[in-house]
Amino acid sequence: MFPPDFAWGAATSAFQIEGGWQADGKGPSIWDTFCHEKGNVFGDQTGDVACNSYELWEKDLECIQQLGLTHYRLSVSWARLLPDGMTQHVNQRGVQYYNRVINDLLACNVSPMVTLYHFDLPQALHDLGGWKSPEIATLFDNYAKFCFQTFGDRVKFWITINEPHICAKLGYEDGIHAPGLKEKGTTAYLVGHNMLRAHAKAWHSYNSEYRAKQKGAVSLAFNSDWFEPLDPSCSADITATEREFAFTLGWFAWPVFVTGDYPETMRFAINSQSQKLGFDGTSRLPTFSDDDPFILGTADFFALNYYTARKVKAGGGVDQTLSMKSDLDAKEVLDPSWPICGAPWLAVVPHGLRKLLRYIKDTFHNPMVYITENGFSQMGPVQIEDWERWEFYSSTISEVAKAIQEDGVNVRGYFAWSLMDNFEWADGFSVRFGLFHVDPSDAELSRTMYRSGREYARIISKYKTSG
Ligand code: NOJ
Repeated sequence: MFPPDFAWGAATSAFQIEGGWQADGKGPSIWDTFCHEKGNVFGDQTGDVACNSYELWEKDLECIQQLGLTHYRLSVSWARLLPDGMTQHVNQRGVQYYNRVINDLLACNVSPMVTLYHFDLPQALHDLGGWKSPEIATLFDNYAKFCFQTFGDRVKFWITINEPHICAKLGYEDGIHAPGLKEKGTTAYLVGHNMLRAHAKAWHSYNSEYRAKQKGAVSLAFNSDWFEPLDPSCSADITATEREFAFTLGWFAWPVFVTGDYPETMRFAINSQSQKLGFDGTSRLPTFSDDDPFILGTADFFALNYYTARKVKAGGGVDQTLSMKSDLDAKEVLDPSWPICGAPWLAVVPHGLRKLLRYIKDTFHNPMVYITENGFSQMGPVQIEDWERWEFYSSTISEVAKAIQEDGVNVRGYFAWSLMDNFEWADGFSVRFGLFHVDPSDAELSRTMYRSGREYARIISKYKTSG
């Protein structure tokens, strides 16, 4: 049913679990700054301690072993390794920490998949212009090469940047993620552009300097919902749905997998809106130049974070500002037949994943796919017997099986988000995605397995032996 070497994983990210925000020479990141400012995060919670994985890594390893994972996706913190973001100043204690994590995983037969950037830019680099500055591509490339050099003898799966779409839009236009900028017009597109340039540079470095020896694979993690027209017979809704795909998945996956440039649909929508509002005529979506690294072909697999689905209705978005929302000019609608779990944005639509996988196969030349995140949240009272979450996982996993068997999608792995409850960005600890429960007010920060963890372990052990 699943290929014998299928990756059964769970995922986390450094900022969301590690804590130790100033421990042993770590520098601050934009998320440290953002959550120390009142009013940015639910209950003014911070990531100062989080699950304290910096000190309690053994507990995480026990959880990983209890689940029987074959793969574990983690991120390394740029500011823990390089406190000011620059390779001139290496924090050896940070290197030691990740060496230990990686070595322990391998000793337990678990393959690490390592993300280099999961939302946590060193504050020092932000102060120099951060993702808005073109220089960031070189700085990121230096950091990536440092990681390949230091850990690449053992790490065979790399994700350069996690969810560039979310970083750019939520961090630089909506201001609800760090660094909290609310800039309309060009910033989010510029940030996305620099992220693509940074990613591509790092991929090329790996390809030319490390691949032959290290034999690993490098990609970036895209996020996408499954979108479908609200009225499938309405052509405006159909084109609005195409725009939704272009502005989320296409924005980053189209340049990397199809043409080396942004989707035409996206550029057209942005230019038309700019014209309507009398913008000066230059496209607000940047253009790649000959000096930029070649973008096309810079992913060795397709990494997808999938959570939910949306129906799309044309119009209603234009608000007379030069915002991405306005460029998109579409409204996302929830289908009342889809149940909502935990966070209000999370409609439970397992079959959307199968459709999205099919769409990816057809649109992006049948790539090898890893589902690098998928999960179901809880809010309010803690339910350890979380049968609803398990029902979600179990039907999602069977949709993945159908995508492989019936639709011929080349899916190679599945990572549940998340190993344990953790710091869910602006929602703090109020939204819980774990397979293990962690109560941030518990002095021990014990990890307690949810029912869904138990069931996931059962499924993994079944497929690991029978395929
Ligand atoms: C995707 C992000 O990569 C992760 O950090 C976040 O916690 C989950 N979505 C759930 O929102």
